[in-house]
Amino acid sequence: MLSFFLYIDNTSWYNKKGFMDNKNPKLTKTRQKKIISLVSIYWKRLALAAVCMIVVAAANGAMALLVKPVMDDIFINRNKEMLLLIPGIAILVFFLKGFGSYGSEYLMNYIGEKIIRFFRDSLYEKITDLPISFIHKEKTGALMSRITNDVNIVKGMVSTAVINVFRDFFSVIAFLFVIFYRDWQLALGAFIVLPLAFYPIVLFGRRVRKFSTGTQETMADLNSFLHETFTGSKIIKIFNLQAFEKNRFKEKTQRLFQLEMKKVIAKALSSPVMEFLGGLGIAFIIWFGGLRVINGTSTPGTFFSFLTAVMMLYDPVKKLSKLNNTIQEGVASATRIFDVLEETSSIIETNTPETLSGSTLDVEFDHVSFAYNDTEAAALKDINLKIAPGEVLALVGMSGGGKTSLVNLVPRLYDATQGAVRIAGKNVKDLSIKSLRDHISIVTQEPILFNESVKDNIRYGKMDATAAEIETAAKAAYAFDFIQGFPKGFDTIIGELGSRLSGGEKQRICIARAMIKNAPILILDEATSALDSEAERVVQKALENLMRGRTSFVIAHRLSTIDYASRIIVLKNGSIKEQGTHDELMALKAEYFKLQTMQASKGLE
Ligand SMILES: Nc1ncnc2c1ncn2[C@@H]1O[C@H](COP(=O)(O)OP(=O)(O)O)[C@@H](O)[C@H]1O
Ligand SMILES: [Mg+2]
Repeated sequence: MLSFFLYIDNTSWYNKKGFMDNKNPKLTKTRQKKIISLVSIYWKRLALAAVCMIVVAAANGAMALLVKPVMDDIFINRNKEMLLLIPGIAILVFFLKGFGSYGSEYLMNYIGEKIIRFFRDSLYEKITDLPISFIHKEKTGALMSRITNDVNIVKGMVSTAVINVFRDFFSVIAFLFVIFYRDWQLALGAFIVLPLAFYPIVLFGRRVRKFSTGTQETMADLNSFLHETFTGSKIIKIFNLQAFEKNRFKEKTQRLFQLEMKKVIAKALSSPVMEFLGGLGIAFIIWFGGLRVINGTSTPGTFFSFLTAVMMLYDPVKKLSKLNNTIQEGVASATRIFDVLEETSSIIETNTPETLSGSTLDVEFDHVSFAYNDTEAAALKDINLKIAPGEVLALVGMSGGGKTSLVNLVPRLYDATQGAVRIAGKNVKDLSIKSLRDHISIVTQEPILFNESVKDNIRYGKMDATAAEIETAAKAAYAFDFIQGFPKGFDTIIGELGSRLSGGEKQRICIARAMIKNAPILILDEATSALDSEAERVVQKALENLMRGRTSFVIAHRLSTIDYASRIIVLKNGSIKEQGTHDELMALKAEYFKLQTMQASKGLE
């Protein structure tokens, strides 16, 4: 069950892009050093844990040693003193073992959990700061699993591996000591036979690992399939694709079933085979050890003490042999974590960033070209544009024309590949990112609200806003009345409203948020496109309140909504095809005119 979660998300998708190749995970020297330095912060706890583990190992050895006096002194020689002494020692040994075991578990898990938290926090900070292009490139689910699953696997590597190495290694040493101390000749005999049991361990381990990789990939595939079909459930229902998707899902679970069963067979066979081979070793020890007792070279106590140590040796050896798997998994996860942590942001500040100030700002695009990546065609080509302070500029054009790409360059969600975007005469790349974004508000097509109260969602625009300011913003956004109607008014949690909140209402809360931010530059990216015309009318009024006095970029799908604009730009294939007022562009009878007539004929007007 645990492995189900651990394997949920693995590599296959990024491998395609070559982003994170986990087929042969290896930690570079610097990454190893990083992990070691993280662990070594806790060196005092580590040292204490090591002492605890040595206590456990010594107690284990003592238990095997005790078998001899029990046998020889109590049972054979009927020594009454020993009858009292040995149980006393046994109590002490078990107490020490329990104490050491608790101490080592507690301390090692403490360190492990600290490391988990460190990685979680660093990953979240990193991902939050990376440009949105990074989140677009990775799948959200994959990034989430960095923070939820991978960190746990790394903890497994750090704490389990360290516990196993120390405690089991020390235990092995303690048992070997007992074995040789009790009867070194028998020990030599046994060690010729026992290694035979090791070969199958290696063999089965390899098979299990091979199938594990297969299941991991299938699991990853299943995971993205689930994500896709659950989010797209509406389409699946309407297109009557349920049966089709169910079949596809069943094919995947069938494949997973087959792989899991192969793994189960390899795993299930490995312990009986190992036990049988171990049994052969025990048979040899009984024969050879028994012979020596019968000869009088050894005593029954020596023999049983020896046998106990050999049997107790099995458990730590088995755990140590599995250590490699834990470490391999841990290394693979650590590699994925470090890949994210070491990702460099392409959107960076200069060493001495300037701060932007002013409540009216102009924006200029100076020979701006932009491509999402080297291989793709430019999304924007040689854009030259000046927007005066307080001017409302409408951007229109067919979808894919580059409207969103253009406005994204203003807050530096992306950086221009060539040319410069300037605000108040300053290149945006020379500004501090915080001060730049402080001066820009955005309302997108998809209203994005967080699962907090309505009040807090509006407050996102200005963290120290007073209740009165929030109400004023809500009023200007035509949101006040319907918010008042919510069960707890402004304190209602968004999630509690469920589908009660309509698209238009959500959008008006978003507008209130942008309103309270009171930024001089405003971006409206198809803010009304997802709404029906009824809702659009109110939202449009709210937007007009919002635009008043601000330098605004208005991207509109429905041309009827851009009356407010003083100038219209038509973007096509990343270039400005024409610009002017509505009347001028209509008179041109070119692109804008075509867009208008197209919409009119579709009844969108
Ligand atoms: N994140 C992205 N990665 C790669 N290409 C993109 C991305 N977003 C948009 N594009 C491409 O850039 C071009 C312009 O898109 P966009 O600016 O979204 O147009 P519009 O907003 O006018 O519909 C399109 O060809 C689109 O496929
Ligand atoms: Mg767009």
